[in-house]
Amino acid sequence: MCPAQPISRRAFLRFLLKGGVLAFLGAALYPIVRYLYPPRGAESSVSNVVAAQIGEVATNSAKVFRFGNRPGILIHTPQGELKAFSAVCTHLNCTVQYDPQVSVIWCACHNGKFDLNGQVISGPPPRPLEAFQVNVRGEEIIVSKPA
Ligand code: FES
Repeated sequence: MCPAQPISRRAFLRFLLKGGVLAFLGAALYPIVRYLYPPRGAESSVSNVVAAQIGEVATNSAKVFRFGNRPGILIHTPQGELKAFSAVCTHLNCTVQYDPQVSVIWCACHNGKFDLNGQVISGPPPRPLEAFQVNVRGEEIIVSKPA
């Protein structure tokens, strides 16, 4: 049998130093890993939402609503149609808005413009906005992802 040997001061300090280095690396790497591999959001589980009530969005105006964990935009066009798109700009993910003066969807970040079909008119966005389906059920305006 070997009696318990007292730990030396040097060994104890070495243990503390290694622990501190490991804790520092963990604290530094964790946010980087979370940035590179973001958690799955509620977006994938949401396929339709109540975007507004009938009469809530006046002609030639729009409402930004939550679609899962991302914004959507419901537009009541000057022609009286209801259209909905993802409100996430396809350039760098800013939230777009409706400009009733010129009837375009506008991204204030870099002056990207989309027409009322979600197609890019001008600016840096590389792709159209994702279009959603709009249905009216009773007093509710339901926006859903296309099947
Ligand atoms: S993020 Fe929309 S134009 Fe750049």
